[in-house]
Amino acid sequence: MSAPDSPDAPDTPGAPAMAGAPAAAGTTAGAGAGAGSEARPAATAPLLAVEDLRVRFDTDHGRVQAVDGVSFTLRAGETLAIVGESGCGKTVTALSLLGLLPKRIATSTGSIRYQGRELVGADERTLRGVRGGEMAMIFQEPMTALNPVFTVGTQLREVIRRHRGLRGHAARDLAAEVLASTGIPQPRERLEQYPHELSGGMRQRVLIAMAIACDPKMLIADEPTTALDVTTQAQVLEEIRALQQRTGMAMLLITHDLGVVAELCERAAVMYCGQVVETGAVADLFRAPRHPYTAGLLASMPRLRGERVAELPAIPGAVPDLANLPEGCRFAPRCARAQARCENELPLLRGVSGPGESAYACHFPLDGTDPADTDHE
Ligand SMILES: Nc1ncnc2c1ncn2[C@@H]1O[C@H](COP(=O)(O)OP(=O)(O)OP(=O)(O)O)[C@@H](O)[C@H]1O
Ligand code: SF4
Ligand SMILES: [Mg+2]
Repeated sequence: MSAPDSPDAPDTPGAPAMAGAPAAAGTTAGAGAGAGSEARPAATAPLLAVEDLRVRFDTDHGRVQAVDGVSFTLRAGETLAIVGESGCGKTVTALSLLGLLPKRIATSTGSIRYQGRELVGADERTLRGVRGGEMAMIFQEPMTALNPVFTVGTQLREVIRRHRGLRGHAARDLAAEVLASTGIPQPRERLEQYPHELSGGMRQRVLIAMAIACDPKMLIADEPTTALDVTTQAQVLEEIRALQQRTGMAMLLITHDLGVVAELCERAAVMYCGQVVETGAVADLFRAPRHPYTAGLLASMPRLRGERVAELPAIPGAVPDLANLPEGCRFAPRCARAQARCENELPLLRGVSGPGESAYACHFPLDGTDPADTDHE
């Protein structure tokens, strides 16, 4: 989805600016219809703690529960992936963090605590204080996130003025510096160009530059490489990784591409129909997924398999209509392991104790145990 009308729309240029700082580890992620979702208590206070987040849209076409009980935490310096097929609520979750959902039709409940501040229901002043300097976002669609009538330089300087308080030469120099740091060729020349004069990869780098110009503690990157060719994808990912190492910022990386997750992330939350259905350390999820949906996503990722095959096994069927969800497990119509219980009872997210700190929402997980029997406290 494209970036919605932002209550924090920049004064002039269309800069969506938002988002770096210190490092550590250990995210828990969860969701599920009201499930007791945190896998284990965190050792230290997280930068961001999302709990039982729910987002509903009331539109002329009906009511949609786009996010349905999502919980996760993110620590300073950590990278958490949110993965899942199209329409599962990844972008809506991200936009909720920044208070950028269209207020007329969106209702959010639950809790989003950023460094102790509650953001659900916060006033615009609080949200403005968080956007950009604290949390920055690289939007999913670079062309809609950039303002076509202003040069890249004007848009970048505006972000720098707003979030760093710099003008004139200082703003110009920083604009060139952050743009150069994204690996874009001839950064000073690019500043004079308009978005339409740049390739998709360059536009994406401009958005990255706008985000990091704010020197955020946390970066939300929504499908930062999906629109790019494979070579450019790899370059942009490398630039993001290098930036994160330099600045120590935490990152929430939204993607449907598990290859990107493997490259960049320590932990992941797999979303399906507005809920987290599995979460854990990336290495564990990839080695031994418990949820059939996670396994299906993994099976359809060619780059993870290290082999070229004519046709990869796609998950059969389609994501159900969010306005008309099955009563039991939302994945049941597509799941080869589904049984009668799955049709009637929505599985809750349950944690698995152990060093990997993971959780899944499935009555018949792939390791053969019943999650109801596992201790998740
Ligand atoms: N402004 C809106 N008004 C009504 N429904 C919306 C709005 N924005 C999102 N939705 C609905 O919320 C659901 C989740 O959308 P979202 O954009 O978060 O999906 P996503 O996981 O980011 O998908 P993609 O991978 O395609 O970007 C979708 O069903 C979408 O139709
Ligand atoms: S609860 Fe049942 S239908 Fe749902 S993912 Fe698990 S086995 Fe499949
Ligand atoms: Mg999206």
